Amino acid sequence: MGKDLYEVGELPPLGEVPARMHAMVVRPDRYGDPKDAIRDEVIDVPDLGPRDVLVAVMAAGVNFNNVWAARGVPVDVTKTQARWGEPTDFHIVGSDASGVVWAVGSEVTNVAVGDHVVVHPGQWNPDDPWVLAGKDPGLAASFRVWGYDTCWGSMAQFTKVQDHQCMPKAEHLTWEEAAAPTLTGGTAYRMLFGWPPHTVEPGDVVLVWGGAGGLGSLATQLVADAGGRPVAVVSSDEKGEYAKSLGAVGYVNRRAFDHWGVPPAWDSPDWKGWLDGAKAFGKAVWDALGEKTSPRIVFEHPGQDTIPTSIFVCDRGGMVVICAGTSGYDTMVDVRYLWYMQKRYQGSHLMNDEQAYAFNDLVREGRIRTTLGHTYRYEEIPLAHQLMGDGKLPEGNVACLVNASEPGRRDLS
Ligand SMILES: NC(=O)c1ccc[n+]([C@@H]2O[C@H](COP(=O)([O-])OP(=O)(O)OC[C@H]3O[C@@H](n4cnc5c(N)ncnc54)[C@H](OP(=O)(O)O)[C@@H]3O)[C@@H](O)[C@H]2O)c1
Repeated sequence: MGKDLYEVGELPPLGEVPARMHAMVVRPDRYGDPKDAIRDEVIDVPDLGPRDVLVAVMAAGVNFNNVWAARGVPVDVTKTQARWGEPTDFHIVGSDASGVVWAVGSEVTNVAVGDHVVVHPGQWNPDDPWVLAGKDPGLAASFRVWGYDTCWGSMAQFTKVQDHQCMPKAEHLTWEEAAAPTLTGGTAYRMLFGWPPHTVEPGDVVLVWGGAGGLGSLATQLVADAGGRPVAVVSSDEKGEYAKSLGAVGYVNRRAFDHWGVPPAWDSPDWKGWLDGAKAFGKAVWDALGEKTSPRIVFEHPGQDTIPTSIFVCDRGGMVVICAGTSGYDTMVDVRYLWYMQKRYQGSHLMNDEQAYAFNDLVREGRIRTTLGHTYRYEEIPLAHQLMGDGKLPEGNVACLVNASEPGRRDLS
């Protein structure tokens, strides 16, 4: 008979599920700074439904949504969980994992106990009529982000996921390398290839905000891999050089400009100053590229600070595609630039199975580097999220060990 609870890093025999587990948890009564809001607790291991999979988490990726979950803004995540019949008094953070399949529900056929997997974060009801009709599950009403909209996130000894979320782990990667890129990479993939006809084609110029960050470091590579020409926007020359090492043809240091945020009204005398800033930024993009071609696609996520500039510099007939508002949500759009130059302003969120698997295949083929900037230990998970919220993480993506005993492992120790 096995133990009721194992220490982090001390796995039970393969397939044996203990009653309780360690998990990094947030609760509504302590929402706030991630370093205080996220805490290690011992809770019950969840039961599985027929199409659920229990994964022993070896490493978990750090994403900004865990920072939002810890702060309790813009939504209280435990309230969202109520919609899926999940616990409402706590939430386990984490939407990226690498690990080992430890138990499967009665109807699961695509994975078996012992498989090494990475988990993508898209969940939906398998019996949602939209999904059953063969439409994009990413647009289904039941679509949700595992570990953000749902309770059982990856920063725990075990996580409960849906069967279709489990994808084969790239064998050449360590647990922490494999855990880092799926959420950001799959999101970037949908943004760049999910909105035809604005998909990256050879020669396309793509402006990538945060080109050395989590999303941007993978977007830069995806554009280059498709034959496009990524131009990164960064906040230091060091980050710019890093983006170039990933395939950016050049970079713009945003610190050289100060026209950010909501522009003055179009009929105010101050508006011209904003326009001069936006024009100078557009010229800097051309300089970084080495020719006067404007971006066919602008890869957006800062939001409020940058959207007016993104819409301005996007090429005639091009697309600004956005998945976040890190700097704020009041993204003023001067519609003159939108209609007259017939540009598209497209929202995008996470990924569907097809996009997640396509990105994972590029990782498994070694065409995309996982850009792991740093690996933290399980007990450092609150700190890692505090650093992310404060904008102090290193370049690329970061991961945290859970059951993996030390960095560099590919086995069960
Ligand atoms: N909806 C979705 O599906 C989805 C999926 C993944 C992530 N997200 C969201 O996307 C955002 C970025 O995620 P991430 O993982 O890439 O975060 P990250 O690793 O922190 O990188 C974001 C980068 O954006 C740049 N940035 C930050 N504030 C900026 C500002 N005011 N103006 C211009 N650039 C700014 C920074 O780069 P520089 O300082 O070098 O310029 C930063 O490195 C987060 O809000 C996250 O929640 C959404």
